[in-house]
Amino acid sequence: MNILVTGGAGFIGSHLCTELLKLKYNVTIIDDLSTGSLDNLTAIIDNEQLTLIKGSILDKAIFEKVSTHVDTIFHLAAAVGVKYILDNPLQSIHTNVMGTENVLEFAHKTNIKVILASTSEVYGKNDKASLSENDGRVLGSTHITRWSYSCSKALDEFMAFAYHRKFGLPIIITRLFNTCGPRQSERYGMVIPRFIKQAIQSQPITVHGVGEQIRSFTYVSDTVRALIALMHEDKCIGEVFNIGGKEPVTIKKLAELVKKKVGSSSRVIFIPYEEAYGAGFEDMQRRVPNIAKIKSFIDFEPLVGLDEILDTTIAYINQEMDIVEKKNEIHSC
Ligand SMILES: NC(=O)c1ccc[n+]([C@@H]2O[C@H](COP(=O)([O-])OP(=O)(O)OC[C@H]3O[C@@H](n4cnc5c(N)ncnc54)[C@H](O)[C@@H]3O)[C@@H](O)[C@H]2O)c1
Repeated sequence: MNILVTGGAGFIGSHLCTELLKLKYNVTIIDDLSTGSLDNLTAIIDNEQLTLIKGSILDKAIFEKVSTHVDTIFHLAAAVGVKYILDNPLQSIHTNVMGTENVLEFAHKTNIKVILASTSEVYGKNDKASLSENDGRVLGSTHITRWSYSCSKALDEFMAFAYHRKFGLPIIITRLFNTCGPRQSERYGMVIPRFIKQAIQSQPITVHGVGEQIRSFTYVSDTVRALIALMHEDKCIGEVFNIGGKEPVTIKKLAELVKKKVGSSSRVIFIPYEEAYGAGFEDMQRRVPNIAKIKSFIDFEPLVGLDEILDTTIAYINQEMDIVEKKNEIHSC
């Protein structure tokens, strides 16, 4: 079976490709390495069943470089991360909307199954106790750039549904809730790697707002397991699924947990949203998934809890920082 993974050199994509190769699938990656990296692929780059195509999904010609017949596409390539979206508003909309259209159009030509990575951000400010797939979207003004990510991903969902309804294209939509784990970069505003790095470096751990906002973190192996299981179940076609963890936590508590686990002397400090992201920034107070639907379709349960997520990610970041430090020492010798 041949699988195309757009965004395969990214955080989630690289873990997904590793699992797909373990399952003996042939995997082709399309990635422009904008936020992804070849370092994420170190462990699999020499695998004969892996092909890497460097380039953008915005370039329609890139799909002509896919030399084999493709059975399934995991579409993960996107502009991701609050900071990245704010810094690159136009490029982000182009990638997430036009890029996805190109992927769907390519899939449509030969009726390839597409598993689309959407996001819990589509629910916007809906702060219901737990969010179900049919719940409504509550969004802020178009003056506030952060909502463009939610809208661009929602448009992706609309497009995927339209291809499904009009042409029978087999699509499955997944809404990922705060996926985290090794290889997630802190550069674009992702909270767990940012807190861990700050704690290890004894810098202040910077909580945005008052820290009462609630999130449910999902370990990347759970997300990947769900994505692959969905691919195998034809009854999931034409459906949308939340994929998320089961342990809601406030960001303030998360900061304290990280500090304790790292054994850090860092202070936890609170930075107003305006200071972190500019005037008028809005955040969602609560974002917790209801995962009853995916459980009923593929019997999915997240297996990794918050403690283990933090322990594994702290160990990984410590190791990465050691490697960087050693490289710097060698350079300065
Ligand atoms: N990490 C999360 O918590 C989370 C939550 C919700 C949804 N998602 C979705 O999951 C997917 C993967 O996210 P991630 O966290 O691994 O982020 P990531 O930034 O690590 O991965 C995105 C990948 O897409 C690539 N890419 C970006 N623009 C491209 C383009 N024009 N052409 C080709 N490749 C391009 C990047 O280089 C990168 O490798 C995204 O679609 C994202 O919206 C992630």
